[in-house]
Amino acid sequence: MNTNHQRTALITGANKGIGKEIARKLAQKGFAVFIGSRDMAKGRETSEELCREGYEATCIQIDVTDPVSIKNAFGTLSQKASHLDVLVNNAAVLEDHGEDIIKLNVEMLERTFAANVAGPILVTQDALPYLLKAPHGARIINVSSGAGALNDMQTYAPAYSISKTALNAVTRQFSAALQDKNVAVNCVDPGWVRTDMGGSNATRSVEKGAETIVWLATDAPQTETGKFWHDKQEVEW
Ligand SMILES: NC(=O)c1ccc[n+]([C@@H]2O[C@H](COP(=O)([O-])OP(=O)(O)OC[C@H]3O[C@@H](n4cnc5c(N)ncnc54)[C@H](OP(=O)(O)O)[C@@H]3O)[C@@H](O)[C@H]2O)c1
Repeated sequence: MNTNHQRTALITGANKGIGKEIARKLAQKGFAVFIGSRDMAKGRETSEELCREGYEATCIQIDVTDPVSIKNAFGTLSQKASHLDVLVNNAAVLEDHGEDIIKLNVEMLERTFAANVAGPILVTQDALPYLLKAPHGARIINVSSGAGALNDMQTYAPAYSISKTALNAVTRQFSAALQDKNVAVNCVDPGWVRTDMGGSNATRSVEKGAETIVWLATDAPQTETGKFWHDKQEVEW
C-alpha cells in the first residue's frame, strides 16, 4: 500500500461490529483503511475480506490498553503511510453486567477506563504526527454512547457509562487543543446496535450505527469540532 496520494484512516477495534462497518464504508469512499485489531488473526480476516471486495485494507495489531502495542502500531503504519486523514477511536469494552454503582468493582472500573478512556488518549497522542501531515486537515471521531450523556444518566452500566462521559470530556479537551491545527475532534452516540456488545435485540443495524461516524469522517464540515452527535444532529452532553 502506497498511500502518499490517498486518504487514509485508522479505525481501532475494526475486526468486527461497528468498527468493521466504518472501515468498509470508508474503503468504499476510496480511503486506504488500517484495520486496528488487538488480535492479528481476526484483524487479518477482516482486512483480507475487504481486499477481496476490491478495497485497500491493511491490518495493524493494536491493543489500546498497551502503550507498547500502540507505539508499534504507528511504527507499522509509518512504513505504509506518510499521513493519516482520519482516526476513529472505536475500540471499547462493556464489562458491567447488572453492576450497581453502590457495589462497583473498582478493578473492573479500571479495566474499563484503560480501554475506553486512556486508550483513545494514548492512540490520539501517537497518531498526531501523522494527523498533522494530512494535506486537507484531519478528523478524529471518538465512538461514545448515549449511556455517557450526563443529561440522561441513570443507573445503567456505571463503569461503562462513566467511561463514555469521560471520553466526551477527552473529545472536548483534544478539540480545544487542536482547533488551530485544522484537526476536528468529535464524539458520536451510534444508538443501540446489533453487535456482540449491543446484542441481538438491539434496534439498529451496523450500517445505521456507522452512518454518522462515517459522515463526520468525510462529508461533515471540517469546522464542526468539539461536539456530541447522534444521527448527524448535535445532541446534549
Ligand atoms: N453496540 C451498541 O449498541 C453500542 C451502543 C453505543 C456505543 N457503542 C460503541 O461502539 C463502539 C463499537 O462497539 P461494538 O458494538 O461494535 O462492539 P463489539 O462488537 O464488541 O466490538 C468492540 C471492538 O473493540 C475491540 N476491543 C476491545 N478492547 C480492545 C483493546 N483493548 N484494544 C483493541 N481493541 C479492543 C474488540 O476486539 P476483540 O474482537 O478482540 O474483542 C472489538 O473489535 C464501542 O466504542 C462501543 O462502546 C456501541
